[in-house]
Amino acid sequence: MRKVLLPLGVGACVCFCGCAMVAGETGEKVYNSACVACHSTGAAGAPKVGDKKSWRQRADQGFEVLVNNAINGQRSMPAKGGNPALTDEEIKQAVGYMLARTGIPAN
Ligand code: HEC
Repeated sequence: MRKVLLPLGVGACVCFCGCAMVAGETGEKVYNSACVACHSTGAAGAPKVGDKKSWRQRADQGFEVLVNNAINGQRSMPAKGGNPALTDEEIKQAVGYMLARTGIPAN
């Protein structure tokens, strides 16, 4: 359903399938409920899912750093996407899902 909103290329799809272990079902669910509002549109300057350019530099910090920043918040990014009920593990899955959908390997 949400897929229609995202400019997904074939490359992203191939990686998405290849990264299924990181981007499991949990990540997709969390993303669609707590992160999609900003990360599919780029609201408030959020890096858009599918936009490699805006993610590459961030991803260079390392997956753990990205996850920590998502958990603790960073500038306009609210801690846990503004949803404190989410666990650290759920955030981690959601970040993995976003990277996989963007076509960047989470490592
Ligand atoms: C209210 C809008 C909003 C929501 C909801 C939101 N984000 Fe963000 N996110 C942002 C913005 C804005 C940034 C860019 C912050 C900056 O670096 O200035 C960002 C950045 C990030 C980054 C990059 C951090 C870095 O180190 O550069 C990650 C990872 C991330 N968000 C994950 C998530 C996850 C996972 C969720 C859902 C649980 C989520 N976001 C929900 C707005 C949002």
